Amino acid sequence: MIIAPSLLASNQACFGAAAERAGRSGADWLHLDIMDGHFVPNISFGPQVVKAIRPLTKLFFDVHLMCSKPEILVEPFANAGADEMIIHVELGEQIPSLIQKIKSLGKKVGLAVNPPTPIAAILPYLDQIDLLLVMTVNPGFGGQEFIREGLPKIQQAATWRREKNLSYRISVDGGINHSTGGDCARAGADTFVAGTSLFGSRNLKSAVAKLRQSVSQASTR
Ligand code: DX5
Ligand code: ZN
Repeated sequence: MIIAPSLLASNQACFGAAAERAGRSGADWLHLDIMDGHFVPNISFGPQVVKAIRPLTKLFFDVHLMCSKPEILVEPFANAGADEMIIHVELGEQIPSLIQKIKSLGKKVGLAVNPPTPIAAILPYLDQIDLLLVMTVNPGFGGQEFIREGLPKIQQAATWRREKNLSYRISVDGGINHSTGGDCARAGADTFVAGTSLFGSRNLKSAVAKLRQSVSQASTR
């Protein structure tokens, strides 16, 4: 089980301190939400911020590119210290070359699917990815309510993984707390991105432990 606090939900005046705090919290990864004001109606931060916080923690950097033109961003984020880059399947025909580009930079590659997009859109790429991200909110903002229609997508992703003998991680992102996280774990998720429920809690360490406990108990694996 991977627990990945989303930096977006931390106090943005103190990203460095938040990254250090995440590193001491017992979390496994740090999730970094990159928004371009075009693919989603919000702007977050860029490679310079990622580069600045990179020396502050050993956490795996899970970079979620909610961007219309990832082709101009994957190299800067790779150089800034990303360990994995997640692109959106909604980008369509650009996907194969983007997957190749991310791999050629020596980084792991994830593919995300938005709530309105059928999970079948991921099918052609299943054997090329390290992670499949089921969005459980419409991307762009933290603090939104979990969309339960994501659960059957997680089940389908888990069924494909078993049937095809693949090993991609199944991640969920949006509205995840110990309760919705448990539901996702029961459906087959193994990687849990959480912003508000972790950084919004007074004690990050105990919030991470609580989320880990509920998803581990619920897991069917
Ligand atoms: C949403 C982002 C999420 C967000 C999750 O567009 O992709 O990673 O930070 O935040 P919460 O956990 O608050 O829904
Ligand atoms: Zn995200």
